[in-house]
Amino acid sequence: PSPKIIFSGIQPTGVPHLGNYLGALKQWKDMQDAAHPSDKLFFSIVDLHALTIPGNADKLRRNRREMLTSLLAIGLDPERSAIFYQSSVSQHAELQWILSCTASTGYLSPLKHGLFSYPILQAADILLHQSTHVPVGSDQKQHLEFARECVTNFHSSWSIPSSSSRPPIFRYPQTISLDSSSSRIMSLSDPTKKMSKSDPVEKSKIFISDDEGVIRAKIKSALTDSVSKFVGEYDSVNRPGVANLLEILAGFSGGGERKTGRELAEELKGESLLGLKTLTADAVVKGLAEVREKFRQFGEDTEQNKARMREIEDIGTRRARESAERTMERVREAIGL
Ligand code: ADP
Ligand code: NA
Repeated sequence: PSPKIIFSGIQPTGVPHLGNYLGALKQWKDMQDAAHPSDKLFFSIVDLHALTIPGNADKLRRNRREMLTSLLAIGLDPERSAIFYQSSVSQHAELQWILSCTASTGYLSPLKHGLFSYPILQAADILLHQSTHVPVGSDQKQHLEFARECVTNFHSSWSIPSSSSRPPIFRYPQTISLDSSSSRIMSLSDPTKKMSKSDPVEKSKIFISDDEGVIRAKIKSALTDSVSKFVGEYDSVNRPGVANLLEILAGFSGGGERKTGRELAEELKGESLLGLKTLTADAVVKGLAEVREKFRQFGEDTEQNKARMREIEDIGTRRARESAERTMERVREAIGL
């Protein structure tokens, strides 16, 4: 099989929570570890996308570094994967403009101009690196469809036949659905809502940097029901708090033998809710132990660590720029620039 090029991005919007970890980042790390040596991986901290929410320069600087720290903490390896800030690779913005000249506006909704062109920048992110596989949640599938449409529009607008002796400029990327291998993690304080960074309730979410005491306290206070003292059956409609704990427990269940929340409910049928909370807290504490320790190390405020982080930034930038420029040379040539 031909080598895969895997691309995914995440906005620099604070330390990832358990939902981000189980729903995306842990799977990025698993993909990295399962990749064939000839596969390439790109993980971008998409700071240009983050500009659609105007904020504060110091905060963005801090958030970018914090997300880099988080990606290293969850086990992405800068020698194996290109980990880079989107804005450090100017070809992303260049390709966005070029694609916007041939994209159809049907899919885009006219809000703020930045949001209007958001899907085009996302298409540029993916196409720039000739990505073949893009791991995303189901909320992003439509954007991927739009990226494929951008390929078709670009090739046809610039009369680049897809069956010429020259290979076409862009590849059609394929979606890898992250939802099929994980469940949505719900808020600990209101299990009818998803765990989200925009939720102001602090104890509704567990951060990958939370220490053991904080993790245990948050899970202990998680909202479940008092209808029954036992786990009983998996019922995400009537007992969403219990189902959520089962899903979290499932997310940390052993490597290749990942269990489902439903299977765990069956195993733990007669367990008390307090027992379930303890089991879940144990699993989260253990499952995040290494991440937490690495987060601390990569976040250290020492000159030595800062120099190491700058070096890691340089490695990622260099690799992403090389890949980007290979594509852009062909794009510019094809359109007369
Ligand atoms: P948030 O919803 O907290 O703002 P993002 O939208 O930035 O998070 O999502 C980053 C990644 O984490 C996406 O791949 C998204 O699908 C995943 N994700 C976010 N929240 C959850 C959750 N509660 N459960 C599972 N995956 C999630
Ligand atoms: Na979101």
